[in-house]
Amino acid sequence: MNDLSFGNSEKKCLIEAVNVDKRYTTKREMIQVLDQVNLKVLSGEVLGIVGASGVGKSTLLHVLGGLDKPMSGSVSFQGKDIYKQSNEYLDKFRNNHIGFVFQFFNLLPDFTALENAMFPALIQNQDKNLAKERAEYLLCEVGMKDRMHHKPSELSGGENQRAALARGLINQPDLLLADEPTGNLDHHASDQLIELIRKMNKEFNQTFVIVTHSQRIAEQLDRVMELVDGQVGPIREKLVI
Ligand SMILES: Nc1ncnc2c1ncn2[C@@H]1O[C@H](COP(=O)(O)OP(=O)(O)O)[C@@H](O)[C@H]1O
Ligand SMILES: [Mg+2]
Repeated sequence: MNDLSFGNSEKKCLIEAVNVDKRYTTKREMIQVLDQVNLKVLSGEVLGIVGASGVGKSTLLHVLGGLDKPMSGSVSFQGKDIYKQSNEYLDKFRNNHIGFVFQFFNLLPDFTALENAMFPALIQNQDKNLAKERAEYLLCEVGMKDRMHHKPSELSGGENQRAALARGLINQPDLLLADEPTGNLDHHASDQLIELIRKMNKEFNQTFVIVTHSQRIAEQLDRVMELVDGQVGPIREKLVI
């Protein structure tokens, strides 16, 4: 028997992009951001996406999460092409299966970190006390115990980022798409955040796609793909022995 195996070899595909094209046309130019991108996200993995600034990492996350329809190609979740379904399906897909951590947080300015984190659960008509309990738990896990009653303008970039992670995880999504979630964090806070991601991944088999600039973070993930010139470049897999 072969003792060496790639950890992802038996994992099923959760979401798949096939020949995805995305371009932006402005008055002056046409930018081909994603050029026939093919990518499989495996169920239960923590996948990293790296690449130069402006290469299309945020665009790819939005396309994968049902927020931005590609010009051509398909994105299939559990075998179903999400952009070929009704708007109701797409809304439900996002609400029930996907969590987002946006690059620039997108927190509501008039609400506290705790209220922001509870918000997606309240939209789903979940019990308010349960939502509060879970939001408090997640915020404590990311080191926000003493800061959760503050509004975004009273919090640092890193604290807002952590509140955005708690919000992204509140509904226990199958897939969390996180856009540079450690971009404003020091090493200690980054490690704490990655620890929470690992814990959720292990305990609830949640799948994560994390865009990162940090080599240090990338080294801790299961697989890392590089986006180069609008296409998926080399993929590094962690060898599990
Ligand atoms: N709404 C838009 N209109 C025009 N160009 C855009 C728009 N959004 C992104 N872009 C351009 O598409 C490219 C990819 O952007 P983005 O996905 O944000 O890259 P990254 O996240 O890798 O930095 C960039 O050149 C950016 O300027
Ligand atoms: Mg970006």
